[in-house]
Amino acid sequence: MQAIVMTETGAPTVLVARDVDEPRPGNGQVVIRAEAIPVLYPETLVRAGAFPFPAPLPAVFGFQAAGTIVELGAGVDPALLGARVVTDTGGFGAYAELVAAEQGSVIVIPDGLTTELAAATQMPGSVAMALVATAALTPGETVLVEASATGVGSCLTQLCVARGARVIATAGGADKARLARAHGAAEVIDHAVPGWADRLRELLAGDTVDVVFDSIGGDSLTPLLDVITPLSGRILSYGWLSGAPAQIGAVDLILRGLTLTGCAGTAWLGEVARQRPAALAAAARSELAVGIDSVLPLTDAAAAHRKLEERTALGTVLLRP
Ligand SMILES: NC(=O)c1ccc[n+]([C@@H]2O[C@H](COP(=O)([O-])OP(=O)(O)OC[C@H]3O[C@@H](n4cnc5c(N)ncnc54)[C@H](OP(=O)(O)O)[C@@H]3O)[C@@H](O)[C@H]2O)c1
Repeated sequence: MQAIVMTETGAPTVLVARDVDEPRPGNGQVVIRAEAIPVLYPETLVRAGAFPFPAPLPAVFGFQAAGTIVELGAGVDPALLGARVVTDTGGFGAYAELVAAEQGSVIVIPDGLTTELAAATQMPGSVAMALVATAALTPGETVLVEASATGVGSCLTQLCVARGARVIATAGGADKARLARAHGAAEVIDHAVPGWADRLRELLAGDTVDVVFDSIGGDSLTPLLDVITPLSGRILSYGWLSGAPAQIGAVDLILRGLTLTGCAGTAWLGEVARQRPAALAAAARSELAVGIDSVLPLTDAAAAHRKLEERTALGTVLLRP
């Protein structure tokens, strides 16, 4: 079968199309014929070497896939044969025509949701749901969603608006700002313009932000600290789009009575996994809309990674074997 193999860490060119052996299902596993494979921002970090690859290289790349179950291993529920499912492979093996997965990692796609939309929704929808639950939002709170045109950011914007929050979003450029507004953001600030925290302060006109969903990190959070509600303000740090986590210390938080919740690591990913069925169900009910930027052939995996790194995608990029 055809698959995308990561040969070493580095630029997108380390993702190479190769013929590899078809996977066979072990005990408790299924094999899925992949129809839509989402290209995920965290995958670009693993490919580049910012985070360790969880298997010896070369290896088939890819975190998630959606498709139809075509083979069952011993001990698997026979009703799953032929089911349309999404899966999370646990770190590798998803950029391929056939994907082996643990039975426990697959979720049957609800009726009314296309396989492509299920693939595009699984990660951002479940991460956003976990973030909103952790933030314990109450109606009327003011929320800052950084990088609102990302997959996770667009889901966050929609979920916070649905819970009665006032969403102030950031996005890079006019098209992404339009998307944030379409998802219900009351105000959008261009984070490509230096000093955008000053624009936020102007917009707030003395008001404060109750919750910051921080996906940019680096030094971007420092100028925001004094516009976060003292004593009850919450920062949820879940991404490092700038290349580094938020550069703030305990004293910054303690002196203002703020909390920062780190939303990464094994326990956090368990919480995200628990939210996957709810995210797909919300998408099937049209309560959560994830845009699809493009569907590329599997062999264009390197080009898809470049698209994410150049920030030109407006929505999820999918690969189709
Ligand atoms: N903790 C978790 O469980 C978890 C899970 C998944 C993803 N994440 C994180 O969530 C974030 C979004 O991921 P995603 O897959 O939803 O992204 P995505 O849909 O691939 O969106 C990528 C977009 O991020 C924006 N961006 C890139 N570099 C940026 C920078 N330096 N500053 C500001 N914005 C930047 C660009 O939009 P603009 O043109 O608008 O700048 C780009 O188009 C990432 O930080 C990712 O690592 C966390």
